Amino acid sequence: MMPRILAALGMIATVMGMAFLVMGPVASATPAPDPTYVKECSACHIAYPAQFLPKRSWDRILGSLDKHFGENATLSSKSLTSIKAYLEGHAADSADANPRILRDVAATQIPARITEMPFWTHIHGRLLARHAFDAPKVKSASNCTACHRGAANGHFGDDD
Ligand code: HEC
Ligand code: HEC
Repeated sequence: MMPRILAALGMIATVMGMAFLVMGPVASATPAPDPTYVKECSACHIAYPAQFLPKRSWDRILGSLDKHFGENATLSSKSLTSIKAYLEGHAADSADANPRILRDVAATQIPARITEMPFWTHIHGRLLARHAFDAPKVKSASNCTACHRGAANGHFGDDD
């Protein structure tokens, strides 16, 4: 058992180093999360960082909350207006986001998930190849907190 665990840790450390070299810290400029967004959108998963999807993706997600990945996540129109303003203001195509997050995404594409974004699959490629997201403790790639303890606060670097 022990050597396998050590090998897995070594692999993760290697991936961490490589992702850092290729990407640099993509999440360094995470804005303070909006209280309404955190309150309404973190019941089932973390309130995902606004900067990881473009405005058009957030608009589509917010426009179809009644059919949200098999769940009904509808909101009051007041909350919806405030969350939309926050997500659009800090999205991947807003002024304060790292332009690398939108790399390889065509202007016509509307990614449905962060975990489908090329920046994300690029960083996590080795883990995807090893089916690391199927592990019982992870269950889903969308479960960022399983590997990034500080994810709910927008921290994804290797020291978080
Ligand atoms: C009732 C539960 C629930 C609520 C409330 C909810 N979601 Fe989700 N959300 C889900 C489920 C289930 C998934 C799919 C997770 C998976 O594939 O493991 C998901 C996935 C997502 C994803 C894609 C994650 C990825 O894989 O990249 C985004 C983005 C998202 N939700 C945004 C939101 C936003 C914005 C709100 C608030 C308006 C919200 N969610 C509220 C249940 C919910
Ligand atoms: C199975 C474990 C696992 C899961 C689940 C996971 N990641 Fe990662 N992630 C990693 C590893 C390992 C790295 C490389 C560490 C590094 O470079 O900081 C990484 C790196 C990152 C980085 C680059 C860090 C930086 O600042 O350069 C971001 C951003 C990131 N992940 C976002 C996410 C998001 C968002 C989710 C959920 C939608 C997620 N990850 C889910 C393991 C995971």
